[in-house]
Amino acid sequence: MPRLKYASVLRVVVILGLLCLWIQIMLSASNGVIDRDGDELMNLNDTSEQVLALVPPELHKYLTVHNKNITVNSTEKANPKNVSDIRRAIHRYNEAQTIYNEDIFGPVQNDTIIIAIQVHTRLTYLRHLIVSLAQARDIDKTLLVFSHDYYDEEINSLVRSIDFTKVMQIFYPFSIQTHPNEFPGVDPNDCPRDVRLEQAIKLKCNNAHHPDLHGHYREAKYTQTKHHWWWKANRIFNQLQCTAGHTGMVVFLEEDHYVAEDFIHMLHLLRSTADRSCPHCEMLCLGTYLKTYQYHTNGDKVEITPWHSSMHNMGMVFNRTVWNNIMELQEQFCAYDDYNWDYSLLHLSQNRPKRDKFKVILCKGPRVFHIGECGIHHKKSNCNASTVISKVQKLLQNAKSYLYPTRVSATISAGGAKHNKKLTKGNGGWGDIRDQELCTNMTKVDRQMRKYIHFA
Ligand SMILES: *[C@@H]1O[C@H](CO)[C@@H](O)[C@H](O)[C@H]1NC(C)=O
Ligand SMILES: *[C@@H]1O[C@H](CO)[C@@H](O)[C@H](O)[C@H]1NC(C)=O
Ligand SMILES: *[C@@H]1O[C@H](CO)[C@@H](O)[C@H](O)[C@H]1NC(C)=O
Ligand SMILES: *[C@@H]1O[C@H](CO)[C@@H](O)[C@H](O)[C@H]1NC(C)=O
Ligand SMILES: *[C@@H]1O[C@H](CO)[C@@H](O)[C@H](O)[C@H]1NC(C)=O
Ligand SMILES: *[C@@H]1O[C@H](CO)[C@@H](O)[C@H](O)[C@H]1NC(C)=O
Ligand SMILES: *[C@@H]1O[C@H](CO)[C@@H](O)[C@H](O)[C@H]1NC(C)=O
Ligand SMILES: *[C@@H]1O[C@H](CO)[C@@H](O)[C@H](O)[C@H]1NC(C)=O
Repeated sequence: MPRLKYASVLRVVVILGLLCLWIQIMLSASNGVIDRDGDELMNLNDTSEQVLALVPPELHKYLTVHNKNITVNSTEKANPKNVSDIRRAIHRYNEAQTIYNEDIFGPVQNDTIIIAIQVHTRLTYLRHLIVSLAQARDIDKTLLVFSHDYYDEEINSLVRSIDFTKVMQIFYPFSIQTHPNEFPGVDPNDCPRDVRLEQAIKLKCNNAHHPDLHGHYREAKYTQTKHHWWWKANRIFNQLQCTAGHTGMVVFLEEDHYVAEDFIHMLHLLRSTADRSCPHCEMLCLGTYLKTYQYHTNGDKVEITPWHSSMHNMGMVFNRTVWNNIMELQEQFCAYDDYNWDYSLLHLSQNRPKRDKFKVILCKGPRVFHIGECGIHHKKSNCNASTVISKVQKLLQNAKSYLYPTRVSATISAGGAKHNKKLTKGNGGWGDIRDQELCTNMTKVDRQMRKYIHFA
């Protein structure tokens, strides 16, 4: 009898152990910037009355979903242009480098804060990000650069309706949308993700000899985010006419982020604190992933710590000096077998000859929030954007008296074991030499002058 009891206890322990392991895997999988949603445009009106009540009436226009003609087929609605039309449009917009509202807010200066926003298809979240940006103090002195990997008229008209600062749109030209049957999209002769090496060689599928470190073949969808991030950074620092002399800060946001109204104020405080106390802090960071927020104690605190991809990838900020350092080691980014841009950057950070890894100075009371967690962890049924947005709105409302600190106090932290752990291998998904080559190719484009194009 005791033996039987022991066996069943053991079984429970093993099951619990496996459960913990599973939870940990789920959690670590959700740490990255993976968007496992489909490519369908997410454009619902799930803004609750509660959320709307806390948005100033003059900004409701950014939340208004223009339900287009319902009688038109949904396929037709989603695809008004064919691929060659879209490619042509993208090419023209990229050449024109149009800066909207420049006439009202003045030209881009060398120290203008540039806010780069990577946009895929989650329009519902983008609307709320825009509403949050609209309420930020000094937003009218910035340039918003929306970088798109999905061309859609609905998204375009929302972005072009922004009237509170200068706006530019750039379009990632190697998207799956514009390459539906060829690399960087999915080529019919690509190896299936899970096929074994010998089988792949027999099949003679593309790059059969180059699976990733886990033995898997490329998945276009997962490589696109890193390509797009890299392309956008290259485009902004090295290729646009308006940034030729730019030395100011570039803030990296994503479509499902949300900013606090004092984020630009905090950015200046982080910059001046870094100049004083941490000249080697290459990265500034406005967001952190926390379970609870304590602005009454942390609203005016900043921390200096080793930069880590999964902790400090939200509202990350750096300037051209740092970018040039990254560019010198672009191979560490492009050839590293990891489809996450942030882990690739961490790898680069840890392998800098004769230099320390990146240090970051960050706000302990976050000024950038992630509102898009809904679409990833839950299926649409039991989770809506409004729930999360409402939470952030209330949080910021309660923190109001702690925003805009006049000064901040900095603490230096060596960081935990996780901060300092040396990456031994990547997360994979970046074994295909075409991906590595495309990534390298993106660094070889020179600066391009604006072409004045008359749009019909
Ligand atoms: C969106 O939904 C809210 C509340 O459900 C409603 O008040 C609002 O009028 C809707 N907006 C549009 C444009 O449909
Ligand atoms: C819907 O589209 C059809 C055909 O494109 C058009 O005839 C009709 O007037 C449209 N209806 C509305 C309400 O826009
Ligand atoms: C609407 O869609 C159906 C199939 O989904 C298709 O047969 C039909 O031709 C479409 N109509 C138009 C006007 O595109
Ligand atoms: C795409 O659509 C345009 C009309 O909008 C048409 O002129 C062109 O031939 C189409 N191209 C292809 C490849 O279908
Ligand atoms: C911006 O920087 C460029 C290059 O350093 C310089 O030529 C230009 O004069 C600067 N512009 C302003 C307004 O300071
Ligand atoms: C750019 O960032 C570096 C590293 O943080 C800093 O030393 C430098 O002063 C910054 N340059 C400007 C013009 O702010
Ligand atoms: C979303 O959640 C809010 C409460 O946070 C609720 O009022 C609203 O009805 C929900 N909307 C949907 C479409 O489930
Ligand atoms: C990279 O650029 C070279 C030279 O222009 C070109 O031949 C090659 O096809 C490009 N590779 C990819 C993957 O885009």
